[in-house]
Amino acid sequence: MTKPIRKAVFPAAGMGTRFLPATKSTPKEMLPLVDKPLIQYGVEEAVAAGCTEIIIVTGRGKTTMEDHFDRSPELEATLGRRGKTKLLETAVALSKLARITYVRQPEALGLGHAVLMAKEIVGDEPFAVILPDDIVDAVVPCMKQMVDVFAKTGCSILGSEVVEGDAIEAYGCLACKPMGNDPRLCEVSDLVEKPKPREAPSQNAIIGRYILTPGIFKCLEELKPGAGGELQLTDAIKALLASEKVFGFTYEGVRHDAGDKLGFLKANVEFGLKREDLGPPLRAWLKTLNL
Ligand code: G1P
Repeated sequence: MTKPIRKAVFPAAGMGTRFLPATKSTPKEMLPLVDKPLIQYGVEEAVAAGCTEIIIVTGRGKTTMEDHFDRSPELEATLGRRGKTKLLETAVALSKLARITYVRQPEALGLGHAVLMAKEIVGDEPFAVILPDDIVDAVVPCMKQMVDVFAKTGCSILGSEVVEGDAIEAYGCLACKPMGNDPRLCEVSDLVEKPKPREAPSQNAIIGRYILTPGIFKCLEELKPGAGGELQLTDAIKALLASEKVFGFTYEGVRHDAGDKLGFLKANVEFGLKREDLGPPLRAWLKTLNL
């Protein structure tokens, strides 16, 4: 029997430099995809995967995230008075999604360091990590797919997808041995963070979804700076390979890199088109564009 995945860690202390100037005073995690901030998609995905405790690793200037998942008595009273019942339900439901704990990352020393900040709250159990920039549109939520695989393997699992050409240099890269019984799974034999395209061991990129065993914390504590001078989660997972198996998992779904300006625009159009209320007028308007 594997332990259930109850806790999900959200590294959200980054400065969001790829999205300046919007992110100068607004956390990138709060940028709206249609009408919900990016981090809400990730939190809902974790909850749909069975997580009941959300741990958000934050930093300076990020308090709007805390307000977003909190009660807002003034707003609720106003919506109540105006008879806006549906909106009132939406606002209240947000504060009941899960138990959310915030922990600060005092300095942006890298993704590995951010995850290490959650060590005491996670304790001695396997946990999920969701990078809120990566939005995965899937019939079965991506983390739920991974939790189901974890229940069978009990090993750390990295969400993965094949990327084209030089794009691999923007990701953690996996060298993998295919597994006979499940074509979506492969056994990781090596990892490199942001490889030069010619030196990449494969085109398999890590996406922002991980299930990690608590053994990762010792590896994170012993970590030396890696790519970009940062403490890299990928390097800690490579160290974990010395004592545990790690699997790469090709999820079903479409990923949007919403932390990138073009990826964000595309995600907004695609999510907008899927909406019952906004889809038809948005589609009609797009057709009028002389492209
Ligand atoms: C991080 C990880 C990288 C992973 C990527 C997925 O990189 O370090 O291994 O492939 O997220 O989005 P970042 O996008 O923060 O540079």
